[in-house]
Amino acid sequence: MADSITWTLVCVDCASTFPGDELRYRCTCGGTLDVVQSGSPGIDRETVDERLRSRHPHDRSGVWRFRELILPGADDAIVTRGEGRTGLHPSKALAAWVGLESIVLKHEGENPTGSFKDRGMTVGVTQAMRLGKRRVACASTGNTSASMAAYAAIAGLEAYVFVPAGKVAFGKLAQALAYGARTLEIEGDFDDAMTLVQELCAVEDVYLLNSINPFRVEGQKAIGFELLQDLEWEVPDWIVLPGGNLGNVTALTKGLGELHALGWIDRLPRVAVVQAAGANPFYTAWTNGAELVPVRAETLATAIRIGAPVSWRKALRGLHATNGVVTQVDDVAIVEAKARVDAAGIGAEPASCATVAGIRRLVQEGVIAKDARVAGILTGHVLKDPGLVVDYHKGELAGIESTLANAPQRVAADLDSLRRAISG
Ligand code: F0G
Repeated sequence: MADSITWTLVCVDCASTFPGDELRYRCTCGGTLDVVQSGSPGIDRETVDERLRSRHPHDRSGVWRFRELILPGADDAIVTRGEGRTGLHPSKALAAWVGLESIVLKHEGENPTGSFKDRGMTVGVTQAMRLGKRRVACASTGNTSASMAAYAAIAGLEAYVFVPAGKVAFGKLAQALAYGARTLEIEGDFDDAMTLVQELCAVEDVYLLNSINPFRVEGQKAIGFELLQDLEWEVPDWIVLPGGNLGNVTALTKGLGELHALGWIDRLPRVAVVQAAGANPFYTAWTNGAELVPVRAETLATAIRIGAPVSWRKALRGLHATNGVVTQVDDVAIVEAKARVDAAGIGAEPASCATVAGIRRLVQEGVIAKDARVAGILTGHVLKDPGLVVDYHKGELAGIESTLANAPQRVAADLDSLRRAISG
């Protein structure tokens, strides 16, 4: 454990505080916890800009480059795989499709294990090392488990992942197995697995690495930090991202608030969360101005097939603070957006493309102005869910018309057949 802890854990519901090094994921009242730092971080924008030219692995990480704002004093314990440093891609084709003059997409699928989860996991696993933990666990729709499995392997920790049986995209399941995590396919959905993993970690000495762990959230703040740095600290009008368990929007909005308080940015962007219509409890709560009521979730975007999001109160707070909005898009819209993102040469997994479908809807509704500066977050790599891609292009995706199908074509193994095929 580091000598000087400069943070406390604060309950989001009742504001009770706990020592920063106490092992807990919830308040005694059941509320979720924030990591709140005390004092000045002693770092400025110029220093993090200078670190872009450094070769030190901590400076090269798109998370630890901002370490004073994330987990001060972690230095020797840091478990990194060079996470972050993801591209910010403009696309004329996608801007035209969503109805904007321009758009940029921060591609978190370019992280080491192919999703934004690596930003939180590098910090969560580092904290596990500081606490002297030997075993870690998570429930997952796939990406968290892929990420945790990799970082646990690097750190030499034993990893247990709980995934909903038959509902995890192939690329993600393959990663958990490849990186050596004990993979338990729960005969239930993600929400069942999430409940079980919390129960398990309460009775076994296993460190919980879902985003209910507030140190995961601290790491994911770096998506916003790096996005703003990419934009040379010029604040966009909107940042748009998908929402499932709602840890990511919690992290984004918390980090933006901290940058604003430090004077690194002169205003806050508006934040929009996009849910799948079949997994929309937060959208419903937001629209009704009511408490969140869990639902049975169903969507082709399996990453966000979540009916009882753990971090919804924190997410609500973050959206109010950023004058944000919540929208929803159905699977037809998600899959069409995905075909467009893929065909634009960028490519991303289905849940990520809810971002682009959501931007299109918000522009059509006039919520986002056509000349607004919009940054969308693509959360996962195109290869995470190859099954859906191939089914779509073969026209075999149940309930979906493959309007942009690019089916593979069988050809006899001779030159004439090939020449006929390419001229056809
Ligand atoms: N996009 C992708 C690709 C995801 O994997 C997830 C969540 C989200 C968006 C939603 O982020 O939960 O912070 O609101 N995946 C988790 C997992 C649940 O287990 O991999 P969120």
